[in-house]
Amino acid sequence: MDTIEDRYRKQTPTSAELAERAERVMPGGDTRTTTYHRPYALTIARGEGPFLWDVDGNRYIDLLGNYTSLVHGHAYPPIAEAIARAARESSAWPARSKAQIELAELLCARVPSVERVRFCNSGTEAGMLAAHVARHVTGRKLILMARYGYHGSYDDLELGLLGHDGDRTVLGEFGRAESFEHLLASRGDEIAAVFLEPVLGSSGVVAPPEGFLPRVIEAAHRAGALFVLDEVITLRLSEGGAQKRFGITPDLTMMGKIIGGGMPVGALGGRAEIMAAFDPRRRGSLMHSGTFNGNVLTCSAGIASVRELTQERIDKMERQAERLGEELKRAAKQAEIPFSVRQFGSLMNVFFTNVAPPATIAREDHRTMAQFHLAALNHGLFIAPRGLIALSTVIDDGLIDEVCARAAEAMIDVARQAA
Ligand SMILES: Cc1ncc(COP(=O)(O)O)c(C=O)c1O
Repeated sequence: MDTIEDRYRKQTPTSAELAERAERVMPGGDTRTTTYHRPYALTIARGEGPFLWDVDGNRYIDLLGNYTSLVHGHAYPPIAEAIARAARESSAWPARSKAQIELAELLCARVPSVERVRFCNSGTEAGMLAAHVARHVTGRKLILMARYGYHGSYDDLELGLLGHDGDRTVLGEFGRAESFEHLLASRGDEIAAVFLEPVLGSSGVVAPPEGFLPRVIEAAHRAGALFVLDEVITLRLSEGGAQKRFGITPDLTMMGKIIGGGMPVGALGGRAEIMAAFDPRRRGSLMHSGTFNGNVLTCSAGIASVRELTQERIDKMERQAERLGEELKRAAKQAEIPFSVRQFGSLMNVFFTNVAPPATIAREDHRTMAQFHLAALNHGLFIAPRGLIALSTVIDDGLIDEVCARAAEAMIDVARQAA
């Protein structure tokens, strides 16, 4: 009997060849740590709507949307047209564009705490900027963030995933307000900012317990530190992001992913008086440059993406995610494999344990997770190797039924292989 990996190899010979070719020029054959998996990752040829096709012609239902950024699926016509229109007039100018102003206006209108915006090219850069402003405004050095929180691959902010403190970073426990309150009370005069994802993304879609976020915000302010909310993933959770949904008011907000309509993007938004640190008319203002900041392609795509993400569509994705979670549980029960799922809005993470683990990156189910991931690919479902699923507005209810049927088959393969 073929193993799950045998079948994967049989279905994807051209991806295997291209992986070897890629390894000769890129370490590990890839250029994003998160997308790497054994035995080799696919090479994708194209995407359209809710589907991806690999170089061997296999079709996948895309349940990841480039790690949550493609909230309207692939080559969404209003976005593709906006990019094509913009491209005909060049891609970036060393001056302001109307598209830049319009995207900034949209974000200020939608996201409650955002009064001013600065664009950059990734969520990582938005985090670097936030740390820079917070240190400038407070004259302090330390960043306080959650263990297993993620704010991009920048030294001071990636320690969360590594799980240990650093010279310029200290960690609190997500969901336990007292751990943040304690650190802010004991080391408050060193802490420039508290960074938090409202819902942990990278470490398994963990929602905050009631009252956690407001308590941390209050403790941060008591200590004279800024509170930075990382909405790079969570802006999709309501028209005004997670902050609107939870009724909280951060000082600064990191944004990315959906606000670029699939193009590289990042942005930092916040209270006008804090963001004024970037105002070049001010003495001692902060240096913030970037050849591609607010470029025309990104901003044009971003306007279409944000405009089309209505509350109605957000609610529809949430209902679909709830149903998908329930159906997946039923399928796992039938296949007799341990399974749990954590879902919030259109985001979910699957686990192959009876109870979803707390936020962590060292998962005891990593072997089964890796098997299910490959089995899901064999059955035409594209999810993250770590089990993250992010729905998009172009998935209809019929396609959710198809996902459930395919996932059930993948689970049967996993059960067979374990037997
Ligand atoms: C919560 C969060 N913050 C920041 C980032 C970094 O964004 P980017 O990958 O655009 O640098 C990510 C990326 O996944 C993220 O999930």
